[in-house]
Amino acid sequence: MVKIGLLGLGTVGSGVYEIINNPKNNLRKLLNKNIEISKVLVRDKNKKRNIDIPTEILTEDPYDILNDPEIDIIIEVMGGIDKAYAYICTAFKNGKHVVTANKAVVSKYLAQFLALADENNKGFLFEASVAGGIPIIKPLKQNVRINQISEIKGILNGTTNFILTKMAEAGLTFNEALDLASKLGYAEADPTDDIEGYDVQRKLAILSSIAFHNQVDVDSIKCRGISTISSKDIHMFKKMKLTVKLVGSAIASNDTISASVEPILVDENSTIATVKEAFNIVSITGDTIGELQFYGQGAGKNPTANAVVCDIYDIISGQYKTDHFIQNGEIKSAGIDLFSGKYYIRIDTKNKQKVLDLLNKNNIKHKLISMNQELILITDLVSAKSIEHFIEQLKIFENDYSYMRIEANIFDIDKCIAI
Ligand code: NAP
Ligand code: HSE
Repeated sequence: MVKIGLLGLGTVGSGVYEIINNPKNNLRKLLNKNIEISKVLVRDKNKKRNIDIPTEILTEDPYDILNDPEIDIIIEVMGGIDKAYAYICTAFKNGKHVVTANKAVVSKYLAQFLALADENNKGFLFEASVAGGIPIIKPLKQNVRINQISEIKGILNGTTNFILTKMAEAGLTFNEALDLASKLGYAEADPTDDIEGYDVQRKLAILSSIAFHNQVDVDSIKCRGISTISSKDIHMFKKMKLTVKLVGSAIASNDTISASVEPILVDENSTIATVKEAFNIVSITGDTIGELQFYGQGAGKNPTANAVVCDIYDIISGQYKTDHFIQNGEIKSAGIDLFSGKYYIRIDTKNKQKVLDLLNKNNIKHKLISMNQELILITDLVSAKSIEHFIEQLKIFENDYSYMRIEANIFDIDKCIAI
């Protein structure tokens, strides 16, 4: 008998409970073992829940689970950082394997958790922490054994992709689309994490740490979300045959890592533009394998719980020994030095000449697309650092603006001039 302690019974936790207890699954047969979720931690035992579960296995005391010698595996799906960190450390010290979907805690403590798991000869698996149901951590771990990874890139947040899709295609407002994403179980407990890009920042830190063999400092990753994108922008993108996506990218060259989370404009017919609703796509590029792409549901109860249960399977079947893919204790910072491109910039301003002077002062060559109520322009090729420098100065006297890098192969600036 394998006993599991579940920390959290929300969207993901209830999905895990249902999959494990679904008589149609093959887990017990394949593993030739009985599996039981014997205790479940919640904040409030008396809360009304949409799940068929014996109330006597619910507890509000984490140590009821963490100190239970019969429990072999801890599944942490409650979220947050400090308590999750403390419970995961205790679980290892008490000789338990740990599986988690919590990118906030993994992005901060990955190297430490791997070391603790190693010390205690236990497994630490976190497939569901990145890109929901898509298997990406396991294939990445396999590929870094052979490949030098040069780039990781993708749509890594279901909520924001859902919002952008609904704004562009169903005419929903930002808030209407966000409410719907929360109801569907895609959003974080605090959806600011989704909207402002912090969720992608964490996921990108996890992927980069594995790909580049050093824990990457999550807070060093430049991060912008989608809250400054207006319906005016979306309307303009449609005219330019571009689509906006919140993209996490990390590039490594020699000893330098650049990483960013930002809205990017892509060709409306590109593969990435066809990734809609709460779906995610992740691409990794290695020197031997070339580019690999992974696509699937990036958020929500069943896809995420599916990833957690795949990890549980790997733990029970003994496939959890961790390679030392994080090779030293150094925590690496990511900058933006390796990024450049053409940029779309919109500024609602009463100081048009001042803005144009600032662009000239920063030597940002550009073509104006609109000079009506707002300035809209496309720059020539420019470094991300130059654009950020310009925006820092712009911020001092303007607050209604947006800017996005354009990654469209066939983007034709001359067509925009006619808009
Ligand atoms: P959720 O619906 O908010 O559920 C959280 C659960 O944890 C609830 O059952 C809550 O108890 C319990 N909990 C929270 N803090 C607790 C505490 N201090 N003590 C005891 N119980 C506590 O969250 P979720 O969407 O399932 O997400 C869980 C984790 O998975 C998060 O780390 C999230 O980032 C990650 N994740 C979520 C998704 C997704 O699509 N939702 C996808 C991938 C990863 P009560 O029920 O009593 O309130
Ligand atoms: N809130 C996250 C998202 C959940 O929308 O992608 C999956 O990690």
